[in-house]
Amino acid sequence: MTTIYGDVNGIRKSIINRLEELYEFTIPFGQVITNELAQKLIDLTDDLNRELVVYITRKGQVTCVAVGDVYTVILPEVDGRRSVNRLSGIRCIHTHPSGETELSGVDIASLKEMRFDLMAALGRKDEMIQASFGIITNIENDQFNTQMIGPLSIDEFIELDITYLTAQIERQLDLNTKTSAIAEPERALLVGVERQGKWRITDSLKELAQLAETAGAEVLGMTWQKRDRPDSALFIGRGKVQEISLLRQEKNVNLIIFDDELSPAQQRNLEKALGIKVLDRTALILDIFAQRARSHEGKLQVELAQLRYNLPRLGGQGLVLSRLGGGIGTRGPGETKLEVDRRRIRERVSDITKQIEYIKKQRNLHRKRRETTRIPTIALVGYTNAGKSTLLNLLTASEVLAEDKLFATLDPTTRNITLTNGQQALITDTVGFIQKLPHQLIAAFRATLEEVVQADILLHVVDVSHPQYQEQSHAVFQVLHELNVDIKQLITIFNKADKVEDSNSVSALLKTENSVMISALHGHGIEGLLLLIENAIKQKTIEMHLLIPYDESNVIAKLYDISNVHSTEYREDGIYVSISLSPDQTNYFNRYAIGVEQE
Ligand code: GTP
Repeated sequence: MTTIYGDVNGIRKSIINRLEELYEFTIPFGQVITNELAQKLIDLTDDLNRELVVYITRKGQVTCVAVGDVYTVILPEVDGRRSVNRLSGIRCIHTHPSGETELSGVDIASLKEMRFDLMAALGRKDEMIQASFGIITNIENDQFNTQMIGPLSIDEFIELDITYLTAQIERQLDLNTKTSAIAEPERALLVGVERQGKWRITDSLKELAQLAETAGAEVLGMTWQKRDRPDSALFIGRGKVQEISLLRQEKNVNLIIFDDELSPAQQRNLEKALGIKVLDRTALILDIFAQRARSHEGKLQVELAQLRYNLPRLGGQGLVLSRLGGGIGTRGPGETKLEVDRRRIRERVSDITKQIEYIKKQRNLHRKRRETTRIPTIALVGYTNAGKSTLLNLLTASEVLAEDKLFATLDPTTRNITLTNGQQALITDTVGFIQKLPHQLIAAFRATLEEVVQADILLHVVDVSHPQYQEQSHAVFQVLHELNVDIKQLITIFNKADKVEDSNSVSALLKTENSVMISALHGHGIEGLLLLIENAIKQKTIEMHLLIPYDESNVIAKLYDISNVHSTEYREDGIYVSISLSPDQTNYFNRYAIGVEQE
């Protein structure tokens, strides 16, 4: 004899029989529900016009069927609940006669109260069954946090790997209750792989440590392994994973950060094997950018990069542990909450792409308008922390944030600069580059970095006091190459000269073509730099002789505004002007040309 819970008064015997048949369903291991059971539940809901609920155990048995009214259903108690870091072992699946699957506040309260493995709502809309579900993600100050996912199609819902998901959640709860130190910095262990190449692994890990600290973690240790090719399943060798597992206990770390980008499968396997959150360098950099983005466009770009990074990490295998529980890797720019649902991510990606495309079009329009009478543009590029913002401040006497932190500058800042010969130019500071800069980020920032692509002159700021300055320069050129930047007009600025002790190395550096040694902090060497910029601009300008008719004499004022007018002569047939113009400007004033000579 099976019991149908709830108010069954007035329900026909034939329907009671159909409700009782629900107990006979067995769900295959690891699957959340079957298509057939979902269909039966929805059909019965329509016939009754009431909510229905079933409980399903981890073994796949239906242990409870209850009937509610059209809005709600009383949930029967769950037996044998375990400690606070365990879930109940029961999936609660209920239906909504309205067809809407959004979970109500009562549903979420029940999810927490009964500690269900998962709380799902099914509904039928336009003949399609859909599901939304909520899960507990972590525990913070004795309170459960939850996350809502969906609506998903019933097929997507069935694909969910519920066994894996609940194991991840319980591991997270276990961690939370053992450490219960959410507000404290995450305690990280860094892991790298040593390969042939320019960067020494210890230097690369040192940089990773700086990144981790910038993101707010405390670094408790680092370890690495020599390997030519990464292991396809675990990135590192199995023995190394065991060693890390011991180190993790010994140092009581709660986060592992890899120095390279891990594949979604590697990340998942490592989290399974180690039982703690595993992140890679890419997620770390994206997290820092998320915290530092200020402008609307910057925020959109970072969010786009994060969503693109997250999308392949969600799959039918369930959510990875690092996506639960907050902290580094789960933060979005500004108020953005990172999505964990595939379809919503895709929608958001297309929405953001459109917005960025629109901003880009606007910018192109502005640029086109500027181009006719534009003044030369200069872009500052360089490895993160090279001193770009400090130099920009010095050159333009402005107050751009300069911090001894990686990626202090995220949004491009453009300022006016006047050279010694009176020539005006626009100078833009850009985001700092770094080795292994996430490709998602470069793609997302392409629109902003176009300022660099379009610039007349590039100033490459190098921190010569850094032991890896050559490798850093190489990384900058790699990114410029990826952006298809023409590096013909490049000035290399060796900065932080005040920190360099070895004068031999300094004189060797100065053999580099078109370079200058400066200290942006102390203002040394700036005159030399300004001269180099002036020369570079001159090389781009063309000497022109123009004849301006008297009825267009307003053009003269414009010419004085934009460039160096060498001479003007008022004759009978018009005003004769000789002037230096950039190639873009010559296009505009060509119609007045009576002679051109290349400088
Ligand atoms: P990102 O925003 O990461 O791209 O950095 P950035 O290249 O804009 O560097 P920023 O100007 O923020 O400078 C980084 C750190 O280097 C700051 O602490 C500066 O004070 C310091 N710094 C910059 N120029 C010099 C210099 O010439 N000498 C010395 N000793 N320190 C400098």
